[in-house]
Amino acid sequence: MAFDLSCPGLIIGCIFASLARASNVSDVYPPLWKESPGQFSDYKIENGKYIINLWLYPERLGMYKILLNKTAKYFAKFSPENEQNILWGLPVHHGWQYQTGRLADPTQSTDCGQKPENHLCISVDSWWADLNYYLSAMPFLAAVDSGIMGISSDNVTFLPPPKDQMNFCYNVSGCHSSFPEAMRKWNEFYQCKILDVFETHGFYLSYDFSITGNFFLILFIFIFFLSFL
Ligand SMILES: *[C@@H]1O[C@H](CO)[C@@H](O)[C@H](O)[C@H]1NC(C)=O
Ligand SMILES: *[C@@H]1O[C@H](CO)[C@@H](O)[C@H](O)[C@H]1NC(C)=O
Ligand SMILES: *[C@@H]1O[C@H](CO)[C@@H](O)[C@H](O)[C@H]1NC(C)=O
Ligand SMILES: *[C@@H]1O[C@H](CO)[C@@H](O)[C@H](O)[C@H]1NC(C)=O
Repeated sequence: MAFDLSCPGLIIGCIFASLARASNVSDVYPPLWKESPGQFSDYKIENGKYIINLWLYPERLGMYKILLNKTAKYFAKFSPENEQNILWGLPVHHGWQYQTGRLADPTQSTDCGQKPENHLCISVDSWWADLNYYLSAMPFLAAVDSGIMGISSDNVTFLPPPKDQMNFCYNVSGCHSSFPEAMRKWNEFYQCKILDVFETHGFYLSYDFSITGNFFLILFIFIFFLSFL
């Protein structure tokens, strides 16, 4: 197999994840998966840019949906329904955060994330939500930047949270300058040969992949990327 050795971490991650055997996964979709945006045109457009509000659960989830859709071709040979896509770990983990109330305002000084009235709100005070920002905004923008999303890098921008705006980045160039290492890693993920490896050799690597099996991958990604934040 022609592994690109500049991506050892990713390869380890994939092997690690492939060890995580999963049982039945057909209905482990994150909450509100069907209702969330599934293509760029489902988002608001302003001045030729798609505007994504990452502080609303369906809009953040929708980014994963687009990401999975655009990377599906790498896994299509082995799973027509795209259930073998290694990126599934990200939305599933986020769905768990939503379901368990981890995205709500932990200080309870606002009703952000409180059920039932404001349950879609993602609070900037939630540690989980902030961490997930780097596992949603970054992979998404890096994918846009790598050209696999089919839109130009300047055509997408995120809305800032109500406070702590300096802690986040909002577009491809902004994220590159604020978090160069994390963006570089994700760019490598899309550009280095790992996805091609799946396309050609997926049988060996992704044999045991599935939605729940990615729990270990997400753990790995956490550890891998935390060191760059
Ligand atoms: C997995 O789920 C599908 C649909 O829900 C079902 O048809 C199938 O029998 C299940 N497989 C196992 C091994 O439980
Ligand atoms: C993307 O940006 C270009 C200019 O860079 C603009 O011409 C185009 O209309 C934009 N596309 C969308 C879908 O907004
Ligand atoms: C990706 O999205 C397009 C447009 O919504 C859809 O036609 C296509 O079937 C999707 N592909 C996958 C693999 O989900
Ligand atoms: C990207 O965001 C930064 C702030 O984070 C802003 O200064 C810059 O103008 C934005 N660039 C584009 C192309 O929108």
